[in-house]
Amino acid sequence: MPVHTRIFMRLAILLLLFYLMIAWQISGAIQVVFSDYLTESRVVSLTLISGLILLPVIVALSYARGKADTLFLRRPDITIKDYFLTFPFWMGLVWVAEMLPWIVLIFLLSGLFKLLPLIRPEFWLEIKSYALLVLAAFYLLYVPFRAIRDTWRVRLKTLTAQIPGLPAALQKLRLVFVSDLHVDRYTQQSKLQKMQQHVAKFGGDLLLFGGDIVSAGEYYIQQAVTEMCSTTSKQAHIAVMGDHDVWANPERIARGLHSGGFHFLQDEHHLVEYDNCQILITGVTYIYHQKPDKAEITTLMESAPDADLKILLAHQPGRLLIELAAKYGYHLFLAGHTHGGQLLFRPLGYPYAFARWEGKFYRGLYEIRDMLLFVTNGVGLTMAPIRYQAPAEVVGIEFRGK
Ligand SMILES: [Fe+2]
Repeated sequence: MPVHTRIFMRLAILLLLFYLMIAWQISGAIQVVFSDYLTESRVVSLTLISGLILLPVIVALSYARGKADTLFLRRPDITIKDYFLTFPFWMGLVWVAEMLPWIVLIFLLSGLFKLLPLIRPEFWLEIKSYALLVLAAFYLLYVPFRAIRDTWRVRLKTLTAQIPGLPAALQKLRLVFVSDLHVDRYTQQSKLQKMQQHVAKFGGDLLLFGGDIVSAGEYYIQQAVTEMCSTTSKQAHIAVMGDHDVWANPERIARGLHSGGFHFLQDEHHLVEYDNCQILITGVTYIYHQKPDKAEITTLMESAPDADLKILLAHQPGRLLIELAAKYGYHLFLAGHTHGGQLLFRPLGYPYAFARWEGKFYRGLYEIRDMLLFVTNGVGLTMAPIRYQAPAEVVGIEFRGK
């Protein structure tokens, strides 16, 4: 069973437990608020859970029967089953993730009120039940609305990089950064068009691509390479390898991007001349499959030619790479990989995503000594066919002196 499927199955088991717990609480709340309907609400909850959790059951059965290769998820095109099984499963997961912190908070408050009898137990039970039902109804509406909106849209995220001692000529430079295109069965053509429109609108001098052009297999490589190569900038196009590129066909992707006009950097430096200034782009292959060690990165960075602006481009924002890039005077580090979380939650206001397990630097802008690190949300999707509170983006960067 591939690693993504194993993670998915573990998530499904956890999800089932949480569903049962939440369903129990909500049906209890229905009984309090509406004075009855306990049995009916438990039957409805269990029916809904069975529907939402059907996808992992089908996946498990396919593996058990040795028929995983014929599973609809492996088909090149989206099918009706996705709308009835895949999307509801992931929407359900987001709904549970949004509900859980509130339920934990309600439990904690219940404990507190038992210890300190400030409110009559019957009154607290009523408040608790109303709160649970309002929250459940709110997230039942908000989660699909927000997920559909964030899955379809592509934003143009602009930022100004303030670089110490930047020559005046480079303050006119405009750079576009795109990553994690992940062309696959869930990719809408309109989304790729929006990505290209944003790049054209921003009008960058340089176009940098952070890897993961497809999600898996070879079926979409040609389309993905064609789309990426018809995304243009004025002066130079530079790309690096992503994890999914290696799992798909790294040679074919590198060859395709190269023949489409990209400099495909694999632990290499590339100099671009801009208005009598030198811009260095160092492209590092930093992925699960291939992570250069400290000595290798040091050797690469020590061999970097002098430049007025030094940019590091890598797929993963690895901690070692970040530390060494800051040490060796890079001004800007651009990475993707984490999709800005892709499914981003804000339990009680604090942002959290599963991608946090990958490391501290998983979304947005960070300042590491004199270096700026930007980790983009990217464009496409991994594993979950939806985005939530982490929309796809094209990053447009302008430069200023400091
Ligand atoms: Fe990715």
